[in-house]
Amino acid sequence: MINSNPLFLKALKREQLSTPPIWYMRQAGRYMPEYRKIRSKFKNFLDMCKDPEVCCELALQPIEAFSLDAAILFSDILTIPDALGLKVKFVEKEGPIFENPIKSVDDVNNLIPFDPEKLSYVYKAVTNIKNALPSYIPLIGFCGSPWTLAAYSIEGRSSKSFDKTIKFIMNNMDGAHLLLSRLTDACFLYLRKQVQAGADVIQIFDSWANILDNKQLNNLSLNYIKSLIIALKQDPVTSKTPIILFAREPSCDSKTLIETSADCISLYWSMNDFDIDIARGKTALQGNLDPKILLESEEVIKNEAYKILDRFKDFPGYIFNLGHGLTPDINPEKVKYLTEIVREF
Ligand code: CP3
Repeated sequence: MINSNPLFLKALKREQLSTPPIWYMRQAGRYMPEYRKIRSKFKNFLDMCKDPEVCCELALQPIEAFSLDAAILFSDILTIPDALGLKVKFVEKEGPIFENPIKSVDDVNNLIPFDPEKLSYVYKAVTNIKNALPSYIPLIGFCGSPWTLAAYSIEGRSSKSFDKTIKFIMNNMDGAHLLLSRLTDACFLYLRKQVQAGADVIQIFDSWANILDNKQLNNLSLNYIKSLIIALKQDPVTSKTPIILFAREPSCDSKTLIETSADCISLYWSMNDFDIDIARGKTALQGNLDPKILLESEEVIKNEAYKILDRFKDFPGYIFNLGHGLTPDINPEKVKYLTEIVREF
């Protein structure tokens, strides 16, 4: 049966629902044996992302395994820096490595213009996934926040503290802003193409929001996210597409996140009760189980999940999710169990 108004889209419109829609950040990935089987055929992870048929299969795996309420595009946030000529590859046990990271303001000035057509493999994956999904399951497209993309582009790899990046910003504030505005424009064109290809919802991942203090966060990250959201809301192609903002452990209150005009805020597990209450009814909310709970017994999982469901039961527009992504050490049986008990609540 065609359901023209899926639970997930209702929640994003802040409807009060008796059961929350459920999906998980990083729901497709290494914790699933089905994923690992396909992954083993590719040396470089990004080569796998460049195959739209494989991406379609991977995006559907968690939907088939757990009957979730939303699918997410299978791809990566580092497709944009790769298209800008920074040459990204993924090395086992090290994560992403950039062959041409940004080292100077000259490097920013000399960046090639972003050509959204270079990422046509992503839009093709979106269309394939959309065609393969039942019509009642919405598809989430995504990008990294301009700040998170800038941090990887300067650091050239993953890092705990991004020291090189922080030093670059301190010494080249104008260059950093130029890079951030270039990335904001690229994110806009990229997301617009994903929506044209069939994405129903957009999520912006500010995965490295946590390394900025409050002032830097506003100046270097949230300002650019705001511009990106304004541009999307003003464009006829994307104006009706709900936008979810995930910021990892941000050094700001929920009010500041709401001011970005995102339709939904994805809460990290450290968000305090006061801040959660402030956000009630102002935006849809998503989250925020600590993924580490999924390494515990069923009893602990049920206890912690029910605490969250109790907390959000009178919130209009609540989506069940984790505070960050599923990790490779999680047993898929626990994900299945969690999904079932949330539906039973
Ligand atoms: O279901 C899904 O969410 C899958 C789609 C997806 C991936 N990456 C696949 C992936 C999404 C939405 C992302 C986003 C992404 N990529 C983020 C933001 C999300 C977050 O968790 O904060 C970030 C920071 C990246 C960058 C990235 N991609 C890193 C740092 C790594 C290496 C991680 C590691 O532990 O090795 C990746 C690789 C990656 N992206 C994998 C997957 C399934 C694992 C790659 C592999 O199989 O080797």
